[in-house]
Amino acid sequence: MRYSREQLIEAVSSQMPEKRWLHTQGVMETAVQLAHQYGADSEKADLAAILHDVAKYWPVVKLKEVLVENGLNDELLEHDKQLWHAEVGAFVAEKDYGITDQEVLNAIRYHTSGRVQMTLLEKIVCLADYMEPGRDFPGVNNIRELAKHSLEEALAAGLDSTISFLLSRKQVIYPLTVLARNDLIKQLEANS
Ligand SMILES: [Fe+2]
Ligand SMILES: [Fe+2]
Repeated sequence: MRYSREQLIEAVSSQMPEKRWLHTQGVMETAVQLAHQYGADSEKADLAAILHDVAKYWPVVKLKEVLVENGLNDELLEHDKQLWHAEVGAFVAEKDYGITDQEVLNAIRYHTSGRVQMTLLEKIVCLADYMEPGRDFPGVNNIRELAKHSLEEALAAGLDSTISFLLSRKQVIYPLTVLARNDLIKQLEANS
């Protein structure tokens, strides 16, 4: 079946607590605003934002089951469970909600980790997830300021905050996040 935007919103919001739905609405609003600002497709930004956390509140066993049974990403299984919902989210967006646009699916897939050579849409959804109005963590206002003039600077600052947080807690860092951050720094250097 082909879901309308309203049906998708209903389906997604019913799978998460009110607080996470408010966050999702913030990501939708911010992603659309960034899409207008940086010349991306705002309908795709909206769609990816609606679905980005669809699997966030699924039980860990179910997330693992989807990853294993569909051979989705072996490396992810060795890393923080917090990362799993993004890969599973992209999978269910396609399988359960009929999203076929690879740009949208990849924006969901990489919204937590980032990756090397992120597309404009991937950067926008990942950054919107960091800086939506409901977010409150040290450095978030700096990220919002940077976003006014540079998508890459703002996103690099967001990834830095994730990496710093993990370092401070002596936790494992998903290598793709470091690669994503380095790639953004290189892009900024190349353009300076
Ligand atoms: Fe997420
Ligand atoms: Fe999110």
